[in-house]
Amino acid sequence: MHEPRGLSSPAVSPPPSDAIAARRTADLVEVRFEPSGRRARVHAGTTLLEAARGAGLPVASACGAEGVCARCGMRILETATPLPAESDRERDIKRRNRVPEELRLACRVEVRAALAATAPYW
Ligand code: FES
Repeated sequence: MHEPRGLSSPAVSPPPSDAIAARRTADLVEVRFEPSGRRARVHAGTTLLEAARGAGLPVASACGAEGVCARCGMRILETATPLPAESDRERDIKRRNRVPEELRLACRVEVRAALAATAPYW
């Protein structure tokens, strides 16, 4: 016997709402910005630039976060786990724009663990 299309029962029951809520918060990471001490809790994978703006901080950008202008440089002060190394492109953009080596382009850095950062103009 066939059920009418679109009316069949789901094969798997939806998880209880507590499980959904737990999953939504499981990948949240705290980012602290100095010297203000402002904080943002963001999902893993959010860029550092998005996290800063989420904390209400201005971030210089002339390229729409496309990794071209090199104005979004931030200094990483602390990290719970080491950040991935710069890509060749990030390194090249920084070099061409004379960005100090110790700064990272906030639009290229994805937050994966708790960290603290600052920008030269805050
Ligand atoms: S915003 Fe332009 S390089 Fe990051």
